[in-house]
Amino acid sequence: MKILGIETSCDETAASVVENGTTELAFVVASSKDFHEKTGGVVPEIAARKQVDFMIPVLDQVFKEVPKEEIDAIAVTQGPGLIGSLIVGIEAAKALALALDKPLVPINHLIAHFYANFISHNPADIKFPALVLVVSGGHTDLVLMHDHGDLQYLGGTLDDAAGEAFDKTARILDIASYLGGPQLSKLAATCKQNSVAGSLPRPLLNKDNYDFSFSGLKTAVKRLWAQNDFPVEEVACEFETAVVDVLVEKTIKAASDFSVQSILLGGGVSANTQLRSRLQLRAKELEIPLFLPELRLCGDNASTVASAAFYNFTPLSLEDFKRISPNPSLSITD
Ligand code: KG4
Ligand code: ZN
Repeated sequence: MKILGIETSCDETAASVVENGTTELAFVVASSKDFHEKTGGVVPEIAARKQVDFMIPVLDQVFKEVPKEEIDAIAVTQGPGLIGSLIVGIEAAKALALALDKPLVPINHLIAHFYANFISHNPADIKFPALVLVVSGGHTDLVLMHDHGDLQYLGGTLDDAAGEAFDKTARILDIASYLGGPQLSKLAATCKQNSVAGSLPRPLLNKDNYDFSFSGLKTAVKRLWAQNDFPVEEVACEFETAVVDVLVEKTIKAASDFSVQSILLGGGVSANTQLRSRLQLRAKELEIPLFLPELRLCGDNASTVASAAFYNFTPLSLEDFKRISPNPSLSITD
């Protein structure tokens, strides 16, 4: 089954075709990131307008690789995300579904992130129950996946998401004004000896739950940075280590509490080198297979949307089709 996925939750306009949930036949991503750098944050109206500009060229490119007549279904991100951006993707998907007379599958963006692993690995190797850590710019969630479509929310951030904390800290340290997580991480990797190691808090690390909190950490970075002339790479490394300490230990706690058979990582922050390597070490100690998405599939893309649709395929009635609309605040359990 060949599914066309469309993803427009924020500043990426993406379309992919994935066969049987795992084989990518087309992969196209356009981004309006450069247009948001000046303002230091995504401007929803600009993001939505760029979605309109990019949508047709992106689809044209995909249809050059896979003729539209070969497509069996269309999947689209329903939320969470920016309302204006989501509308563009949903309306394009609805129009295509009607024109091609194919089923439409609405997909939760957060759940789509899980499926980067089903493309990056042999799906048969991913055994349930699996524990999924989704870490992105807007979310940090721990989810127990009993099976496709059978999810149990365990916990998540009470305030800032991990990616958001990375981006805000990159701004505080004057590393980058917008989406500075990757640059902060690159700089942190250059730190050889750290005079500020252990000086930031590890929020909720020892609490007996699966929740996270990163907003206090950002304030602590601000205080540390203002205090003295510490080298920026040392502060960046201490910040990254504090975030990774909490993400890894909470994930490992949940994995052992629920005796899971696999651990999956997903979302933009899953590209973080320290997070990947330290989770790998801890999962190995526990002898739990860990699945990390290919770097290319960590961020927002439409292959994950198409894969999620294959594994969660439910044909819609015409009435339900008409009712599909963007849901900017969709949660994992909706
Ligand atoms: O999943 P994603 O592409 O978009 C959302 O759904 O939010 O995640 C984007 C987030 C941004 O906050 C970005 O700075 C962060 O992922 N990110 C990273 C790295 N690569 C992307 N954070 C830390 N280290 C990285 N290597
Ligand atoms: Zn995302």
